[in-house]
Amino acid sequence: MSITAEKTPATYQPKGMLVGGKWVDSASGTRFAVENPANRKPIADMPRAAAADVDAAVAAAEKAFPAWKSVVPRERGKLLLEIAEAIQARSEELARTIALETGNALRTQARGEANMTADIFRYFGGLASELKGETVPLGEHVLSYTRREPIGIVGAIIPWNAPVMLGALKIAPALCAGNVMVLKAAEDAPLGVLMMADICQQFLPPGVLNVLTGYGADAGAAIANHPKIRKLSFTGSTEVGKVIMRAAAERIVPVSLELGGKSPSLVYPDADEDWAVDGIIAAMRFTRQSQSCTAGSRLFLHEDIFDSFLKKLEKKTTGLKIGDPLDEATDIGTIINNKQFTKVCKYVQDGLDRSDAQLVFGGLPPKTGPLSEGYFAIPTVFADRSNDWRLAREEIFGPVLVAIRWSDEAEAIRMANDSHYGLAAYIWTHDIGKGLRAAHAIESGWVQVNQGGGQTPGMSYGGYKQSGIGREFSLEGMLDSFTQRKSVTVNLAV
Ligand code: NAI
Ligand code: MG
Repeated sequence: MSITAEKTPATYQPKGMLVGGKWVDSASGTRFAVENPANRKPIADMPRAAAADVDAAVAAAEKAFPAWKSVVPRERGKLLLEIAEAIQARSEELARTIALETGNALRTQARGEANMTADIFRYFGGLASELKGETVPLGEHVLSYTRREPIGIVGAIIPWNAPVMLGALKIAPALCAGNVMVLKAAEDAPLGVLMMADICQQFLPPGVLNVLTGYGADAGAAIANHPKIRKLSFTGSTEVGKVIMRAAAERIVPVSLELGGKSPSLVYPDADEDWAVDGIIAAMRFTRQSQSCTAGSRLFLHEDIFDSFLKKLEKKTTGLKIGDPLDEATDIGTIINNKQFTKVCKYVQDGLDRSDAQLVFGGLPPKTGPLSEGYFAIPTVFADRSNDWRLAREEIFGPVLVAIRWSDEAEAIRMANDSHYGLAAYIWTHDIGKGLRAAHAIESGWVQVNQGGGQTPGMSYGGYKQSGIGREFSLEGMLDSFTQRKSVTVNLAV
């Protein structure tokens, strides 16, 4: 396979970083390369931001804040709705850009992400008038009411796995609520985010949204530690989430954290059917190489259906086409970068080396042939009795699924909950009573019964345990994460 210029039409050409409404280089002039993970070739050369660039972006945001917070919320909402339509109008260019830089397949992933991005702006744009407070009945001679006020400068740090959608989930609610933002794109996937920022800045006053490109250790850390940033919103690994939270503790700023997962899928014996197999493939996010925090990567199968279910899963999963992310025929694209690819391969090797684990299908990526040109991994399933080996406990962030046998329902739920993560969960059964009892017993922020879908605007999404703090995707998320409440109490007796 080779990805030629003819096969990659109309992807976004970045103009630099967005600071104060202008496209700028980094203060130091240092740059870094962004790579196409499908062929390991460079596709862009981006400014590498550091502390001085964060200072400049914060200064631009600070300047923009007083006017932006004074815009009538309904008017801010209207701007977001215009942004939504402008993103929609360029959704194919955005989708191609996402596929090119992330390796997520255009047809199965990137188009959906581009459309969802427009939807997120639409959803929050429509919510602007919900930024209301309440009156509190403190007595006939007192008027006490609350206001929802913006927090100020929000520092946002996002990952590469669904970069544009995850960026929109910070930008749209934060700006709707009257905040201003300094956002750092992930070093592996800044292009789609810059394209979204380019569209946003055609509608927004300069400085309301500032977008930097660069690495976590310099630009990310400078955002986390900046004294003028009043709120931190982070999506990424639990490990870095802890670093962000420590930085926030130093100056008592609120944090929202959307972190990792090791989500269970619990299949009851009555669900040994094709629809459930399709659901498991969707829940495991095999068509996004399982680089998803909600991946249902621990498959708890009832012992009566263990072998038959895995046979069906093998047949359907091995029918998926791995290849060029920009090719319409492709179902599964590539892992994001060499670091993640190497990490995924190590987990597969660990599984192969373990005597009591059985490889059901998949294995190490091919070392020759077209797929060896990029970071293509192969959907892999290991079967084991145990829930406590490394592959069943750690977030692999690659297409490696661990199947575990169960016979007793209470034991299955105990194993499902035996994780420091608690992001998503999936339950598969025709018995709705059983399904809902399990849904209530599982310690996760989001449980799906008989489906393995993605998030939808309107639902409050976020993690239990070390999967995070706070909720996104919802009105509640906007109000809790991006406003602060002020009480005003007036003595009416004078
Ligand atoms: P990461 O958590 O290191 O990166 C996410 C973002 O944080 C990037 O923008 C990065 O530049 C920034 N960052 C990194 N170190 C930072 C620091 N010290 N201060 C401030 N910002 C910092 O994730 P990475 O290295 O790309 O992936 C490692 C693992 O993290 C994956 O294997 C996966 O398990 C998990 N992950 C989870 C995601 C999720 O959506 N829950 C998304 C991406 C990764
Ligand atoms: Mg990292």
